[in-house]
Amino acid sequence: MAVRKGRIEWLGASSSLPTIDSSADVIDLKGRLVSPGIVDCHTHLVFGGSRADEWQRRLEGVSYRQIAEEGGGILSTVRATRAASEEQLYESAAHRLKALIRSGVTTVEIKSGYGLDLETELKMLRVIRSLGDGLPVDVHPTFLGAHALPPEFLGRPDDYIALVCGEMLPAVKEWASAVDIFTESIAFDLPQTEQVLRTAIDHGFQIKIHAEQLSHMGSAKLAAELGAISADHLEYLQRPGVEAMARHQTVATLLPGAYYFLNETQRPPVETLREMGVPIALASDMNPGSSPVMAPLLIANMGCTLFGLTPLESIRGVTLNAARALGIDDQVGSLEPGKCADLAVWNVSSPNELAYLIGHQPCRAVYKSGRCVTG
Ligand code: NIG
Ligand code: FE
Repeated sequence: MAVRKGRIEWLGASSSLPTIDSSADVIDLKGRLVSPGIVDCHTHLVFGGSRADEWQRRLEGVSYRQIAEEGGGILSTVRATRAASEEQLYESAAHRLKALIRSGVTTVEIKSGYGLDLETELKMLRVIRSLGDGLPVDVHPTFLGAHALPPEFLGRPDDYIALVCGEMLPAVKEWASAVDIFTESIAFDLPQTEQVLRTAIDHGFQIKIHAEQLSHMGSAKLAAELGAISADHLEYLQRPGVEAMARHQTVATLLPGAYYFLNETQRPPVETLREMGVPIALASDMNPGSSPVMAPLLIANMGCTLFGLTPLESIRGVTLNAARALGIDDQVGSLEPGKCADLAVWNVSSPNELAYLIGHQPCRAVYKSGRCVTG
């Protein structure tokens, strides 16, 4: 592989290597496997506090839905995130993001959504931007103001949606490239979703959605028809939703970490997605409540074991299709001349092994735009 100015210039057998500049640095990777840098296209890795105690309650039999209805769950992280300083949020998130980078991640999407008031949402978005400025990884910020109903708006969801659309979306324009919403019986309904997504489109944002995670709402179909770049979770997705996603080439971002950690039994309709040609991405969904997972290869493994993807589909899910879910597949996600030289070098003997080994860190080095960032 020849790299110039951070981009892949040439790729092929050493025997056909073109003559290269004598001043070029030559790096011998000793025959190791090189993959595109991993793209984690759905995370909530900026947050305050921890939900380990809530997890214990879930183990004792209380459901995620019930905890949310009691004002815990997402809202307990909202309280901790509102109380945290910007520095505390940065430090804790940087720690998590460094773990992802050491695991081969070169691009990450990070959502706001634990503020649920303009001040805290902006605080989160500033932290998200600082993470991209401070660490060798591309960070794609998403505004998730409509993640849950904040306590101040109890019983008045339409007033909160009006605030999201009227005040928050214009104010976060400089800070986020995409807008996401949690459409679910414990969050926002279909008309509210349509209002937020349409307003986001009018403001020039890309749109994404947390869809069909705990029940079937018809939200993936709605989002696909509105032009969403991805619909995420999708455990309860039904055929009309798959058809709409196929028609609009909406990426299906599956989140097996959340399925695993919430002990779900309803699997997303992988066979139908495949049959209809919907691109499938996989992401960590890293968050304190439903997926405290900072291990992208474990996610690839879960994509195979829990959802029935092939190892190659899983690897494509955390690289090229994840890049597609962010609208950047012309830049990253595969090893091709012209793309960024974002690379991960692995101590494995075959691509399948990337998704196969559990609890082993085979990442040997990470290159961001052609520069080694793992020391
Ligand atoms: O993607 N489903 C909604 N949002 C997150 C969970 C957030 C939380 O529990 O803190 C998710 O699973
Ligand atoms: Fe999520």
